[in-house]
Amino acid sequence: MTQQPLRIVACQNFKGGTAKTTTVISIAHCLVRHGKKVLIVDLDAQGSVGVSLGVEAEYGLYDLLIDNRTLSDCLIEARPNLFCLLADQSLAACETLLVAQPRREEILKRRLSGLSEIFADLDVVFIDCSPSLSILSQNALVYADELLIPISMDYLSMVGANHVFDNLGMIEEYFEKKLKIAGIIPTFFDKRVNMSKEVLSALQDRYGSLVLPPVRIDTKLKQASSARKTIFEFNEKSRAGLDYLQICEELFP
Ligand SMILES: Nc1ncnc2c1ncn2[C@@H]1O[C@H](COP(=O)(O)OP(=O)(O)OP(=O)(O)O)[C@@H](O)[C@H]1O
Ligand SMILES: [Mg+2]
Repeated sequence: MTQQPLRIVACQNFKGGTAKTTTVISIAHCLVRHGKKVLIVDLDAQGSVGVSLGVEAEYGLYDLLIDNRTLSDCLIEARPNLFCLLADQSLAACETLLVAQPRREEILKRRLSGLSEIFADLDVVFIDCSPSLSILSQNALVYADELLIPISMDYLSMVGANHVFDNLGMIEEYFEKKLKIAGIIPTFFDKRVNMSKEVLSALQDRYGSLVLPPVRIDTKLKQASSARKTIFEFNEKSRAGLDYLQICEELFP
């Protein structure tokens, strides 16, 4: 079987708590279970990727970006074939340190350029962004080829997504690149709640076929991350497990 080209997908919404981290971890682990090799890059100083997967690393993204540690020093394998570059609070200092650097929006791309030498057969890189328009978020867009936007079923989340689109336009113009919108994921969908149905239909009117099937509200996701498990380890037949599987099949046929 021929190796497909590496896909680099950033997950972004400038509103907090729209399920960016949950989406990255769930889709990444779903792909791994289907035989793919995946890397998650955590660009958020909250460090939720490591916490949710129950893993720690001696070195992480801060060491790679600021302290010039090698990429192989900073990578960990959280599950077989699921690799991570983790973040922690130290990453918060990155913003201030990066401000003074030349071409500061391209640092992540430069520091990850050796990835293909470490893994010839990597299938996907996911970048879990923080809910802010930071230098690190700009780095994600400069490095990525595709963008995934989780939108929770409320008005502010749609506003946060609009800001992502506005910023995307600026990045595309300035860096003369085009990012593909891989998809918009309606999250925390609850069919009993009018607001959910209203926001979903507004998204479908506005973005048409870019809107992926919704992820239903499911407390098992919270329980899974407290147990340091992905939804597929915790309960693959749960609503969220089934919904993320369907999304995964649409995004990675
Ligand atoms: N479909 C869902 N149903 C119920 N709870 C969910 C769902 N998706 C995510 N959650 C829970 O909501 C919380 C926020 O999710 P998550 O951390 O993925 O959001 P985020 O967008 O990454 O947040 P931040 O902006 O802070 O990085 C977590 O506790 C997660 O377990
Ligand atoms: Mg997050």
